[in-house]
Parts: sequence; structure tokens; C-alpha cells
Amino acid sequence: MNIAIVYETKYGSTKEIAERIKVDLESNAIVVDLKKPTETICWEQYDAFILGSGIYAGKWLPKIEKLIKSRTEELSEKKVWFFSNGPTGDNPIEETIKEWKFPAYMASFLSAIKPQDVVVFKGKMELEKMNFLERFIITKMKAPVGDFRNWEEIESWTQKITSTLQTGKND
Ligand SMILES: Cc1cc2nc3c(=O)[nH]c(=O)nc-3n(C[C@H](O)[C@H](O)[C@H](O)COP(=O)(O)O)c2cc1C
Repeated sequence: MNIAIVYETKYGSTKEIAERIKVDLESNAIVVDLKKPTETICWEQYDAFILGSGIYAGKWLPKIEKLIKSRTEELSEKKVWFFSNGPTGDNPIEETIKEWKFPAYMASFLSAIKPQDVVVFKGKMELEKMNFLERFIITKMKAPVGDFRNWEEIESWTQKITSTLQTGKND
């Protein structure tokens, strides 16, 4: 079983999530390649794809958005999972994101690809890594800074993916 995790990140938080998912899948004898959206991807080589991005102003990062748009057909022929990485703070994620699961303007791609699952994970924000404008916006919005990623949740999502890949069933 070969699977590619394609991710885009600005400050590394999504990369670390992708790396964790890779390690967990590999512990179940699944072969995993980590890819950036600008790398060459041999689409026929993979049985399934996991795609993830940091969220910026309610959007996915442009390079992975572009990949989804240009490769909708290839993705629609495979098992696909999507994860967004973004909200910070101690409130339960459902309260923070409300109905938001995926950028609304990309909904048509979701209906074409018919993913197995679409989730949002909490993210990480570090003021010192941001540029001046971002730091200004985040400070003004009083958005919580720090690392709010929930590794147990990420692990349990990965376990569900493993189970689907191994049994063919999506519970
Ligand atoms: C300028 C800026 C805008 C952001 N906008 C959003 C947003 O609209 N929704 C959200 O949930 N998180 C937002 N975030 C938080 C990021 O998605 C979060 O820090 C994420 O973990 C970043 O992932 P990355 O390091 O892989 O890029 C924003 C962060 C910054 C710095």
C-alpha cells in the first residue's frame, strides 16, 4: 500500500503534522511519501492521498489549492483525505470552526473528489516567526498564540485512515 501525504505550510506546523501521520502509517506497514505540491508526483504510483494545509484568512495556501484544482481528476480516482491546520485557543474545535470544514470556494472540488474524510486540526502560532503585518493582525485580533495541536486527535484520525486502507471500509 503506497500513499502520498501532500502538504503546504508557511511556518512548519502542518509539516510536523504530516510527518507524524507518516510515522504512524509506516508503523502499520504502509509506505508513505511526503510531498510538497510543487514536487513531481507520480499519481499512478499511489493508492491514496492525504492532503493538508495551514489555513490563512480562511483559505488553503495557494500552491496546494492550485494542485487540487489542476489534479481534481487524478484525485477523484483515489481514496483521499483532507486536513486543515489552523485554529488556536483552548475552546473546543467545534466551537471555533462552527460549520467550517474546508474553504467554501473550493467546495466544488470536494464534490468531485468525494474524499473519505475532511477534518480541521488545531494549529500553532508563534508571533516571532511572523512578518510585521501578520504580527499586527494576530495581535489586533487577540488570536491565541502558542501550540494547540492535539496529537492524540491526529493519531486517532490516522488510525481510522489505516483501518480504511487495510480493510477497504470507511467507518
Ligand atoms: C496571518 C495569519 C492568518 C491566519 N488565518 C487563519 C484563519 O483564517 N483560520 C484559522 O483557523 N487559522 C488561521 N491562522 C492560523 C494558522 O492557520 C496556524 O498558525 C497554522 O498552524 C499554520 O500552519 P503552518 O505553520 O503549517 O503554515 C492564521 C495565521 C496567521 C499568521
